Amino acid sequence: MNNAIAGFSKLSKEEKINWIANEYFSNPQEAVATIKQYWNNDAKLQQLHDEFIENTISNFYLPMGIAPNFLINGKYYSVPMVIEESSVVAAAAKSAKYWSTRGGFKATVLNTEKIGQVHFLFKGETDQLLSFFNSVKENLVSSTESITKNMQKRGGGILSLELRNKTSELDNYYQLHATFETKDSMGANFINSCLEQLAKSLKEAAQNNPDFTEDEKNITIVMSILSNYVPNCIVRAEVSCSVSELAEKKIENPQEFAEKFVQAVRIAEIEPYRAVTHNKGIMNGVDSVVLASGNDFRAVEAGVHAYASRNGKYSSLSHAKIENGIFTLWMEIPLALGTVGGLTSLHPLVKMALGILGKPSAQELMQVVAVTGLAQNFAALRSLTTTGIQEGHMKMHLNNILNQFQATSEERKAIIKHFENTAISHSSVVELLENLRK
Ligand code: MEV
Repeated sequence: MNNAIAGFSKLSKEEKINWIANEYFSNPQEAVATIKQYWNNDAKLQQLHDEFIENTISNFYLPMGIAPNFLINGKYYSVPMVIEESSVVAAAAKSAKYWSTRGGFKATVLNTEKIGQVHFLFKGETDQLLSFFNSVKENLVSSTESITKNMQKRGGGILSLELRNKTSELDNYYQLHATFETKDSMGANFINSCLEQLAKSLKEAAQNNPDFTEDEKNITIVMSILSNYVPNCIVRAEVSCSVSELAEKKIENPQEFAEKFVQAVRIAEIEPYRAVTHNKGIMNGVDSVVLASGNDFRAVEAGVHAYASRNGKYSSLSHAKIENGIFTLWMEIPLALGTVGGLTSLHPLVKMALGILGKPSAQELMQVVAVTGLAQNFAALRSLTTTGIQEGHMKMHLNNILNQFQATSEERKAIIKHFENTAISHSSVVELLENLRK
């Protein structure tokens, strides 16, 4: 069957749904019903969601949960998390509670610089270009004034602009490399608008430069775009306590626990296969708060993983040590986040999430996000180095299996009781359920 279609975007929402249902499902009526089941009854709210993207047919739900008791820099937070993976919110909440009685989390924003680049080609002498750039630099920056005016009032704007010569790597390739302060906004639109203006002004200035040859006057702007790599927009999160204080029900020998924990982190520092999974656990926490707060998790993911490879080899984002009887786990990650603009004032649940966090500034949100990532890392390593990960995972997963088989509350009770002291596996749950139903 040829499933191609011309003019899909021009169809009405109803027509799009009908086309999809008829094209891909043997029971189109049922398909339409499933798609529409997730529409919101409030037509205005549905329209708001429809208009976030193009060709919308329905809403795709993800659960939103709360991890309470996060003590960060002496203040308690209930952290909203949006994630589909069972056990992540439970792990965050457990970690938060554990550290709340051991001094809490410390978080510090180290810097907040964003980056953008105009990538262009110049056929001529580098020295000529450099002296031209120096002579027009002020004008380039001032040509963005109408865009930067409001941001400057909030204390932000363009911080620096430099010419970078990349011709040793690619013929004729240069950059305008700009840095920005975007205060409480993530700044993508602001940065891209500034860059496009800088590019336009650069091209015009080159065309009007009497010292340039015809070739030199013809600068080719390849593209103007922010970078999602923000190694100077860093937040540090840390937990620390004496080794003996680490003790609790499941940590009977805290010295042994701390040593094994530090070893697990060292393995992630030197072994990329482990580092990726280790960092994935951190991103479980990071992404779920980034999503709940309406921020761009793809940008965060791309930037964080680039940062994890900044020394030429992919490595652990977090680090741990025992020094003078004190256990410390910390990490520094790049996070470009906003608490104004974008989805933050549009999506009702994003507004709600930011409300739960006490309407944080972008810097405060950076701290909460990094801490949630660190909490997740602590929870994962604690399980991995003690009971193993499957115990907790399968307990949460049990619920998913019971839902899948539409277990009654009687069946649930019996099965949960059965697995209190028995290892859970998919097949053993199904087998027990079948026996109960015989
Ligand atoms: C699972 O989503 C995350 C972990 O694999 C992280 C880790 O291994 O550190 C448990």
